[in-house]
Amino acid sequence: MTILGIETSCDETAIAVLEIDGPGEIVVRSNIVSSQVKLHAPYGGVVPTLAAREHAKNIGQVFDLALKTAGINDFKKEIDLVSVTAGPGLAPALMVGIAFAKTLAMLHKKPLIGANHMEGHLYSNWLNPAFKIQGFPILNLIVSGGHTELVLMRDYENYELIGETVDDAVGEAFDKVARLLNLGYPGGPAISKIALSGDPTRFPLPSPMIKSGNFDFSYSGLKTAVLYLVRDLKEKKIEIDDHVKADIAASFQEAATKVLVQKTIRAAQKFGVTAVLLSGGVSANQLLRRKLEEATRDNGYQYHQPPLAYTTDNAAMIALAGFFVYTKNPAKAGWKLVQMQANLGF
Ligand code: KG4
Ligand code: ZN
Repeated sequence: MTILGIETSCDETAIAVLEIDGPGEIVVRSNIVSSQVKLHAPYGGVVPTLAAREHAKNIGQVFDLALKTAGINDFKKEIDLVSVTAGPGLAPALMVGIAFAKTLAMLHKKPLIGANHMEGHLYSNWLNPAFKIQGFPILNLIVSGGHTELVLMRDYENYELIGETVDDAVGEAFDKVARLLNLGYPGGPAISKIALSGDPTRFPLPSPMIKSGNFDFSYSGLKTAVLYLVRDLKEKKIEIDDHVKADIAASFQEAATKVLVQKTIRAAQKFGVTAVLLSGGVSANQLLRRKLEEATRDNGYQYHQPPLAYTTDNAAMIALAGFFVYTKNPAKAGWKLVQMQANLGF
């Protein structure tokens, strides 16, 4: 079947066309992402109303380009299902994609799924041609700008949230630390780039909740520790030059990823999973990818991570989430009321 995916939950206007003949036969016919990063950069974060206005301005062009790239000439004949991110995300931004998707579905009489953005991230692993599941349960570490979640997947459409952040998301911590170091927005790519030349042992930073008995995370304390570190260095008249910034970034990255890896392995052991899957914008981080790959291998677990192109927000993953919801339960598709399907966070 051919699915149109639409994603406008944050600062990317994204539309994709996927051809899926089964879980192992997925062809991305188009995957268009129009980023608003430059628009929001001066504010150091995403401004919801500006994001919505920009989505409304660009969604028509993104749609045309997605269809053209996929070689779709007749929507009514060639598209079987529309899937749109219904949440979690910025309400004004989500509304643009939902209204667009509802109109398309109504006009062309197509089934419409309101996909969960986190479920989309989880399925980004299916976009790796080498990906194959070896059975359930599967443990998912989903790390983005708004969420940090450990999700136990017992089957398709059967999820249990076993741990999440109690305050900031890990991506948010990357963004805030980057702002503290004047590295610009978004912070994740900037931190990981400068950290490459840094010494991760120079400034020992805390990994909050690493010893807690549960699978929750906390990142606001780590961010505050970096704030105090910068303040103390300034008081000691140490210049925060690129060399010091690299050491701070590397030390922060070390502390931030360590707790993710340790808790993921502990959860994998407790729940006896067949595989560990990483996803979300922060899954673009090379240190996290490498450390989690090593730890899962050392502990005997299958491990998968999404192709880099599908780590941050895109609509191919939303089309996939829609496909899995729809094939499991077609009755869930309807344009009159768009409900978010999986319960993986708001
Ligand atoms: O999934 P995503 O694109 O949007 C949300 O759903 O939030 O994730 C965006 C987050 C941002 O916080 C960004 O700084 C972070 O992912 N990110 C990274 C990297 N690339 C993006 N964090 C760490 N290292 C990266 N290379
Ligand atoms: Zn996301």
